[in-house]
Amino acid sequence: MNILILNGSPRPTGNTIRMAEAFRTGAESAGHHVRLISVCRLDIHDCRACEACHASADGRCFQHDGMDVIYSLLGETDMLVLASPIYYHGFSGHLKCVIDRFYAALYPKERKPARLTRAALLLASGAPDVYDGARFSYEGDFLGYLDLENLGVFTCAGDRVSPEQLHELRLFGAALPQ
Ligand SMILES: Cc1cc2nc3c(=O)[nH]c(=O)nc-3n(C[C@H](O)[C@H](O)[C@H](O)COP(=O)(O)O)c2cc1C
Repeated sequence: MNILILNGSPRPTGNTIRMAEAFRTGAESAGHHVRLISVCRLDIHDCRACEACHASADGRCFQHDGMDVIYSLLGETDMLVLASPIYYHGFSGHLKCVIDRFYAALYPKERKPARLTRAALLLASGAPDVYDGARFSYEGDFLGYLDLENLGVFTCAGDRVSPEQLHELRLFGAALPQ
């Protein structure tokens, strides 16, 4: 599979990126092609809710910014992995902007690229059991609305993701279907 991981943490050595890298190592060991984008490194603006994308024939967003990189990859992506720190019980603002901008590329779902059929979610938080907001958004928007199959949800609470959790993520990546 071609897998696209969208990392929503600004911290270059934080828990989210460590979880994403462990998953990537496992997936690559099983022959998958993985691209990891730290969305905070791209200049991605918020959705302006202008509906220009839905009014135009080509369905493109009128804004041209870092999101163009992500749009250009969606057509060749089989699996999307959202990786985010929990901020106030939801996704980070950086990742939320990307999700909102999917409005141009993936909604309505007839627009969704045919080969994009799978998803997974990686979440890092300070406290345990704070995932309902992000899970609700993921399950509603990604799995339900976009008709994606959920392959897994992984969470990590506390200061530092443990070696056991990283191992579990490597195993998950290595056991993905082809
Ligand atoms: C703006 C902000 C809001 C946060 N909100 C929460 C929260 O609601 N619940 C929680 O458990 N942790 C919260 N945290 C802590 C982060 O989720 C936690 O430190 C996480 O491991 C950060 O991931 P990272 O290391 O990949 O950056 C928040 C941190 C920040 C900076």
